[in-house]
Amino acid sequence: MVMRLAVVGAGSIGLAVAWRAAGRGADVTVYDPDPGSGASRVAAGMLAAVTEAQFGEEELLPLMAESVDAWPAFAEKLEDASGAAVGYRDVPTLMVGLDDGDRAEIDRQASLYRSSGRAFEALNGRASRKAEPLLTHRTRGGVLVPGDHAVDPRALHAALLAAVERAGVRIRAERVDDPASLDADQVVLAAGCGSAAFGLPIRPVRGAVLRLRAAPGQPVPRTTVRGWVQGHPVYVVARDNGEVVVGATSDERGFDPTTGTAGAVHDLLRRSIDLVPEIAEYHLDEVTVGFRPAAPDNLPLLGRLDERTIAATGHYRHGIALVPATAEHIAALTAGEASAVHEAFDPLRFEEGS
Ligand code: GLY
Repeated sequence: MVMRLAVVGAGSIGLAVAWRAAGRGADVTVYDPDPGSGASRVAAGMLAAVTEAQFGEEELLPLMAESVDAWPAFAEKLEDASGAAVGYRDVPTLMVGLDDGDRAEIDRQASLYRSSGRAFEALNGRASRKAEPLLTHRTRGGVLVPGDHAVDPRALHAALLAAVERAGVRIRAERVDDPASLDADQVVLAAGCGSAAFGLPIRPVRGAVLRLRAAPGQPVPRTTVRGWVQGHPVYVVARDNGEVVVGATSDERGFDPTTGTAGAVHDLLRRSIDLVPEIAEYHLDEVTVGFRPAAPDNLPLLGRLDERTIAATGHYRHGIALVPATAEHIAALTAGEASAVHEAFDPLRFEEGS
């Protein structure tokens, strides 16, 4: 008998799970009143196992490494299946600091990178500017990470929609209030911040992101540039089509999409222009405020909640990077295979007595 799978949430995680499960022969229906309106629309698309590593989240490193390394093959397979490009950009990430305090922060980050066992190279100021000619001349050094790449999350989402439709997945523009009422053998909860409505311990972590556009012929960074500027992080992700994404703020104010956005734009522009002066010459296309779905320990919730229900949410800052690994592991679970994800991501870990 064909297994009937319901996926709640048509962001990139939900669609990727649906696509891989359909590829294993499941009969899949995805429920979402507004597909792609969550974090997938806001994300910059960094695939950063190294430069997104955070102290205290060391358990995440192997899953991030697995997923980031799976990205090139995943992108190729998805482009074949959908007929659409996902904007995968095989360029390194350059992490730099401007003043002495920022340089000290980069050194602190480098100690974490070292423990990841992933490749990176310390560069002096001149070598940093050679790697990224648009960097400010004030750069005194940085770290080049060859394995941290980027993808265009909006193109990814469009490609996933096309791929699932071609795979026979049904998309229902409906809100699900009670997953137990769904007519399915297995249910995957992949509703991002909306997963809190199903009792999962997920909170929204707000982030403002800017989208700028270079004129034809105007140079864009050839690396993903990340930096610390006067004690604050900023990143600049360029696309081949001239889009340049600058991010991101991070604060916890519930689902408030408006308060403080003027200050956020000011801070992001000032810091990014300090790092890459050419940004001042681009057109500011869009200011977007989104909400990262985060569990109390900021690690994802991946695994069984009960014999019929599986969680695939709480990806916090790493949703796009974790798409391939999440899709494969969760699709395998829906097919009855044993979980191959680390117990640190057990979605029941916050239950009393666990
Ligand atoms: N992954 C970057 C961010 O969440 O801002």
